[in-house]
Amino acid sequence: MLRFSTAGESHGEALVAVLSGVPAGLKIDSAFIDRELWRRQQGYGRGGRMKIERDTAHILSGVRHGASIGSPIALTIENRDWKNWQEALPVGAGDPEKHKAVNSPRPGHADLAGALKYNFKEARYVLERASARESAARVAGGAIAKLLLRGLGIEVLSHVLAVGGAAVRDAEIPWEKVRSLHSREEVLLNCADPEAEERMKAEVDNALKTGDSVGGVFEVVAHGVPPGLGTYANWDERLDALLAAAVMSLQAVKAVEIGSGVGAAASPGSAVHDEIAYARAQSDGRYTGFTRRTNHACGIEGGMSNGEDILVRGYLKPISTLRRPLESVDFRTRETVKAAYERSDVCVVPAAGVGGEAMVALTLARCALEKFGGDSVGEVLRNFEGYREQLRRF
Ligand SMILES: Cc1cc2nc3c(=O)[nH]c(=O)nc-3n(C[C@H](O)[C@H](O)[C@H](O)COP(=O)(O)O)c2cc1C
Repeated sequence: MLRFSTAGESHGEALVAVLSGVPAGLKIDSAFIDRELWRRQQGYGRGGRMKIERDTAHILSGVRHGASIGSPIALTIENRDWKNWQEALPVGAGDPEKHKAVNSPRPGHADLAGALKYNFKEARYVLERASARESAARVAGGAIAKLLLRGLGIEVLSHVLAVGGAAVRDAEIPWEKVRSLHSREEVLLNCADPEAEERMKAEVDNALKTGDSVGGVFEVVAHGVPPGLGTYANWDERLDALLAAAVMSLQAVKAVEIGSGVGAAASPGSAVHDEIAYARAQSDGRYTGFTRRTNHACGIEGGMSNGEDILVRGYLKPISTLRRPLESVDFRTRETVKAAYERSDVCVVPAAGVGGEAMVALTLARCALEKFGGDSVGEVLRNFEGYREQLRRF
């Protein structure tokens, strides 16, 4: 079973990711992992921190001579800002005078609920772990999952559909357009529609000007997924449920939609369900001759992939750290004060999309290994090819 966990705090020494269950013999492309980390750091509206950090993954275990060896893969991502925080956040007792307390919890952040829960008198430790800096570790783990999926012909990418009130006019973006975004060396808002991207940029500019923040919507697309990942057999094995939980677990994601899910609730069945056709000659590396004219289900029916592209949308609330802070209460005096402000992003929708890709890739890799499981990549591929042949002959 593929298992994934992270450790590390926002201003601690490093982030840690542990991925176990990766079959032996998977070629690990470190440059690809670092490129994914770079993608997470991009986007118009990011805070100053992104300028001082260029994340790279340092693999400690589970990979030898360039390939996985079947044992847990552990990696670290150094926090370059640690040098400025060693005295504020020492592992040892340190000097209490040098600690950087967060005394006025930010509405919308984890500060207040976390301090109450863990019985901290201020919120520093809470935000250190609640912070989305953690998502860098997910992106590194997700990159390894992507390498595994690539061997099965599956690619996972994302693009941005909306920032604040600015949205793409046509939400149906072809896969080739999404893929072409990926090769860009400069990422503005990772939107496939240049006109909409300009409007999105204006939303961010407005937030920057007014000391506010903006949320938005990203869409993760998984291309080349064979039918049959996930199952209707048990509630906790349904692919849609697993993907929803995985994407919702990202910081600031407050709603997840599988394709046209929300709109479908208000539409007649005849306009929602994807008619089935059959083409005798299989094309485009498809798994079966069964085809759909539309993909409103967005690749999942009955908790299983159906062979079409899987589309998962994440809806992000606006960042809660505001340069023009909202009202809060001081932990010490209980007086009304302005909420704490610490260098912060204003818009993170493209970066969250990269985090969403990682979560979708980890989920699909887990389901793929459950279906085609094996201890080596060769064994997985044999099982996969056997299934592909079964589909061909169906
Ligand atoms: C990529 C990314 C970067 C983020 N950067 C910030 C930030 O700079 N400042 C901030 O207040 N929140 C930021 N957030 C959101 C917070 O981490 C999140 O709102 C907070 O942990 C509370 O969790 P919740 O919004 O899921 O309830 C970011 C989220 C993501 C996905």
